[in-house]
Amino acid sequence: MNKIVAEGLKRMVSPAEVARFVTEQKQKGKTVGFVPTMGALHEGHLSLFKRASESSDCVIASVFVNPTQFGDKDDYINYPKNIDRDAALAERAGVDVLFIPEESAIYPNGSDMTVQVHTKTDVLCGKSRPGHFDGVATVLTKLFNIVKPDTVYFGMKDAQQVAIVSSLIRTFHIPVKLVACPIVRESDGLAKSSRNVRLSANERKEAPEIYKGLQAGLRAAELGERNFDRLISTVKAYYAKHLILGKIDYVDVLNYPELKRSGASLDRHFIIACAVRYQSARLIDNITADTEKLLSSREAD
Ligand code: PAF
Repeated sequence: MNKIVAEGLKRMVSPAEVARFVTEQKQKGKTVGFVPTMGALHEGHLSLFKRASESSDCVIASVFVNPTQFGDKDDYINYPKNIDRDAALAERAGVDVLFIPEESAIYPNGSDMTVQVHTKTDVLCGKSRPGHFDGVATVLTKLFNIVKPDTVYFGMKDAQQVAIVSSLIRTFHIPVKLVACPIVRESDGLAKSSRNVRLSANERKEAPEIYKGLQAGLRAAELGERNFDRLISTVKAYYAKHLILGKIDYVDVLNYPELKRSGASLDRHFIIACAVRYQSARLIDNITADTEKLLSSREAD
């Protein structure tokens, strides 16, 4: 490691300024880590910043609420924004540069060219958000080209996004390493999310059941269940008993990172994922696992 001397967080709005900064760092032999975000930072993001600053000499984070990944205009307009708060949090978590571009800098020619994602999008969250991952892949291609990081850090909370970004990098030969970081949870198991604050007191009390339902699916896999439909039924049966306020949007079990089934039974790596709707928040969560590790942990018991 060859950390840059701490000089406090630099805010940059121009892609050219960021590109210049990165060129200078690389000329000094420093590695550049990048964490793209849409702001409204929470502990999940901070854990990515922390991970980035542990393994890269210099950390750049972007805050850009990307219009092309929102299907619902209101959701885009109402997306929480507080750049001073975000900057203070990012600085404390070891970020060196906060890149806060204007929409016109990222989309200088509007949407004249976009990236289209043809696989892994018709399941999980992609199913109810047509075009969402095209928007994500488009903006990330632009951000990766501007920042040219050595390593990018993404959270496994959005495991579908991680699988798609990994394909994007491979498909377009983008010279960057992807590090997928574990989901950060509250002490009661609820996955951290900026949407958790929108839950009512009773919804918040119930919400940890979301993770417990996924764990019920994992336990069934640990006991030897390999059938996709039966694993899904196990999770749904748990939710039928424990979720009163939350409505299931989807529960799915798929091979990971392929995000599809191959026959009726799991391959080695799989994901158990769900989305649950509350009055003012839709929460997602997942567990990814490896059947060979499940088997060996059973044998070790
Ligand atoms: O996960 C997000 O916050 C966004 O999808 C991302 C990766 C910053 C792209 O806009």
